[in-house]
Amino acid sequence: MSEIIVRRARREDCEAVNKLAQELIDYEKLTDRPQMDYKTFERDGFDEQPLYLCNVATCDEKVIGYTVSHYTYSTWCGKGMCLEDIYVTPDFRGKHVGSKLLRAVAKEAIENNCHKLDFVVLEWNPAQEFYKRHGASDLTSKEQWHRYRFSEENLKKLASNCE
Ligand SMILES: CC(C)(COP(=O)(O)OP(=O)(O)OC[C@H]1O[C@@H](n2cnc3c(N)ncnc32)[C@H](O)[C@@H]1OP(=O)(O)O)[C@@H](O)C(=O)NCCC(=O)NCCS
Repeated sequence: MSEIIVRRARREDCEAVNKLAQELIDYEKLTDRPQMDYKTFERDGFDEQPLYLCNVATCDEKVIGYTVSHYTYSTWCGKGMCLEDIYVTPDFRGKHVGSKLLRAVAKEAIENNCHKLDFVVLEWNPAQEFYKRHGASDLTSKEQWHRYRFSEENLKKLASNCE
């Protein structure tokens, strides 16, 4: 197998990453979700105030995996990082590409004084084993957190009642 390189994504990788993000949505069976166009993704990551960090794994210069993460803040530990996406294309799974990508996110978090790395995993996803192998713990079973969301529609309703 040719060498796998993990590096920071460049603006010109956005189209390929955006395609893999769609594959991740399909894998997670969240197909009712609107897919962003890659220009929006590119703007949000590469214009003046980048909203996320993106790394890619490449083989023969083709993007075969990626991560998207961003900084978080909490009153009890300060700066943290959230891993939003990690994805490796099916042909390259089980070859430690995911581990390389995850380690690169961990390095970035530690070098930037983050005290934790958070992420969510669907109940049925065997990727839970992947995270556990690397030392992550399941906060739902440990601390009984539930993940909540205001959809855009409900968020607008809530905001419209703001005095
Ligand atoms: C999860 C994912 C990123 C892991 O990438 P990968 O390159 O296949 O993982 P690695 O080869 O680095 O695996 C590292 C270890 O985790 C284990 N592991 C990885 N994926 C696993 C899985 N799905 N089930 C069980 N164990 C898994 C491997 O067996 C390996 O163990 P080892 O070190 O003893 O050999 C990849 O499988 C993937 O893209 N899955 C689909 C998308 C997804 O679920 N993303 C996460 C959303 S929360």
